Order: sequence, then C-alpha cells, then structure tokens
Amino acid sequence: MSHRVALVPGDGIGPEVIAEARRVVDALGLPLEWTELPWGSAHYHEHGRMMPEDALETLRDHDAVFLGAIGDPSVPDHIALWGVILEIRQRLDLWANLRPCRLLPGIPCPLAGRGPGDVDMLFVRENTEGEYAGVGGRAHRGLESEVALETSVFTRTCIERLVRHAFQLAASRRGVLTSATKSNASRYGYVLWDEVVEEVAVEFAEVQVERVLVDALAARMVRDPGSLDVVVASNLFADILTDLAAAIQGGMGMAASANVAPGSDAPGVFEPVHGSAPDIAGQGIANPAGAIWSAALMLEHLGEAEAGRAVMSALEAVCRDGLGTPDVGGSATTRDVGDGVAEHVVSAMSARP
Ligand code: NAD
Ligand code: IPM
Ligand code: MN
Repeated sequence: MSHRVALVPGDGIGPEVIAEARRVVDALGLPLEWTELPWGSAHYHEHGRMMPEDALETLRDHDAVFLGAIGDPSVPDHIALWGVILEIRQRLDLWANLRPCRLLPGIPCPLAGRGPGDVDMLFVRENTEGEYAGVGGRAHRGLESEVALETSVFTRTCIERLVRHAFQLAASRRGVLTSATKSNASRYGYVLWDEVVEEVAVEFAEVQVERVLVDALAARMVRDPGSLDVVVASNLFADILTDLAAAIQGGMGMAASANVAPGSDAPGVFEPVHGSAPDIAGQGIANPAGAIWSAALMLEHLGEAEAGRAVMSALEAVCRDGLGTPDVGGSATTRDVGDGVAEHVVSAMSARP
C-alpha cells in the first residue's frame, strides 16, 4: 500500500527546503504519493484564509503531513500561524512535539570545545495547550485602559500523557529525564506539572528524573549539554529551548521536528523547526538539513524505519564531507545539499542485497 503524504511547502524558504527533502525521499523509490497543498500566505491573499475550510478533513485523509514553514511579512504573524500550524496541532490533537538535537559530525558547534559526543538531546514539547492554549482576549481597544489577557491552560490529562511518553523515550535512550518548569514564580500550572512528573516517575524506576527551572536549564544547555538526554517541557518553554538547541546543533537550518499523537491514527506533521526566514528566501541558500531530517522522522512514523535510517546516514555523510550551506560555514546551495543527500541515498539503496 502506498503512503499518502500531504505536502504543504508554505512560505519563504519553506518551498525551497521542502523540494530538496522531497527529492531525497523520492530517491528511495518507496510507494509514496504526495498531495501538494498550496496553503499559506498566498492562499490568504487570494481566499482570505490561510487554508481552506475543509483543510483538516483533507489532512486526516493522509498518513502524514510534511510542512515547510509558514509566515510572510504581508500577513500578521498571529493570523498566519493560527491559520495553519497551531490550528493543525490543536485540532488533530498532535500532543507531542519531538525535537531531536544532535550535533552531526562536520557541523561546527558554537560552544567552545564541544563536539558531536557532547550533544545528543531529545526535546519533548507539549503541543496543544499551556501558554499556547489560545485562551484570552482584548478589551477597551485603543483606550488608556486597554487590556489583553493571555491565559495558560494546563490539564492533568495533557501533562500526564506527555510526561509518560517522555519517560518511555528516556527509558529507550540513556535513561535520564529532565523536566523544565517555572514553578517558583508561577504557582498553579507548573506546580501541577511538577506533581504529575513525580507521580508518573513511580512507573519508571529505571529512569533518573530531575526537575529544573527553565531559566537554569537554558544556562545548563550551554554549559553542559552532555548532561541532558530527554527534556520535557511546556509548549512555550520547549519552543524557546529548541531554538537554543538548534543553535547548539549548528543553527536553525539543522533542526527537525515531529508533531505526533502516539497511539492515535491522526497523521503526524513533520516540519523543520525553523521558520520561513524571509531574510534569505529566494536566494537558494537555505539549509535543507532540518527538512531532510524531518523527512527521516516521517519515514520512521510511516513504518519505513530502514528508509528513515538511510536518509539520516546520507545526511550525516554529506555533513561529514563538509557539503554545507553558508549558515554552517559552507558555500553550497540548498540544491547542492539536496543533490548530495539524494546521491548518497541512491548509492545506499543500490548497494542493498
Ligand atoms: P526563522 O527560523 O525563520 O529565522 C531565524 C534566523 O534563522 C534567520 O536569520 C534565518 O535566516 C535563519 N534560518 C532559519 N532557517 C534557516 C535555514 N533553513 N537555513 C539557513 N538559515 C536559516 O525565524 P523568524 O525570523 O523568527 O521567523 C520568520 C517567520 O517564520 C515568522 O513569520 C515566524 O512566525 C515564522 N515561523 C514559522 C514557523 C513554522 O511555520 N513552523 C516556525 C518558526 C517561525
Ligand atoms: C515552532 C514555531 C511555532 C511555535 C510558531 C511559528 C507558532 O516557532 O514550531 O517552533 O512557536 O510553535
Ligand atoms: Mn519555534
């Protein structure tokens, strides 16, 4: 049976990096059909919405969604992002956002004296509520008394399913789980979060769990990334930490993510961590590594683990060879990197018995 993948290239560098990841996947020769969906800012200008009204049904009809990036200076960011990615994460209830952070050999690390052996973290981000619940409002617009409320929402159910999944992932890795909150200043949501972590920990005697304050964690990621294995955190905290993580693994262009709902049949959404990067869009220099890595995560999710590993090995080989875009110190174009990874994939596939 063919895998059905909905492809949303999106805005800015989204289409540029997605094209390369798609070429790499196509080089595998798997039974896989793409449905290209022209959603994003151009769609908004034409139809008044970022995606059509029946978008979620369209996506549910696929096995996975592969997304570039959304965001264009011509559309207010909160409209653009709530019109696509945030809506999709919430409505498909894709409650876990998995963001691996590994420094690949050949990619320069901005931390002095650190190399690939020091950087192998997995961020498990709450993806449907918390600071991104979308609850709030504004009143008395334009008056002196204008007020805006942005309410965080934390539910036991959502924290518990996420934290349990993070424990399972830690158990399958180095056995260390770090939970980051800010339960000294915020007295309700993060305190509930900490309590749930303590409760779920009882089921995982083999995992060493620690609770840290998110501000201290940010410093520790820079000082001692090797002490971190799996990190679980709320929607906003993990959003911020994973841009820091991306920088540590060589830059925004390197970072990959998977939005998933383990145990459900909702299609996962796979996307690089970076945005539409309007500052470099159209120049052909965007780093496609994060998009290609996200494609590897997607293949694994589709039950094509071997293909996913082949894509990762090919990406690693290209990085080791020093074929990189300017953000990682190279002089290659987006296309050169895509070509390089696709060539490695083809030779790996043809060498198979
Ligand atoms: P960004 O990630 O787009 O860019 C931040 C910096 O990183 C820029 O200097 C950019 O040039 C660089 N960069 C990003 N990706 C790169 C790549 N692949 N190769 C080389 N350099 C890369 O973040 P931003 O500038 O804060 O946001 C731009 C727009 O993207 C905004 O509209 C924002 O809301 C949106 N955004 C969308 C997503 C998404 O759709 N998933 C994610 C983040 C930001
Ligand atoms: C990300 C992005 C999004 C987020 C934005 C674009 C809404 O920054 O996927 O990390 O904050 O989740
Ligand atoms: Mn982000």
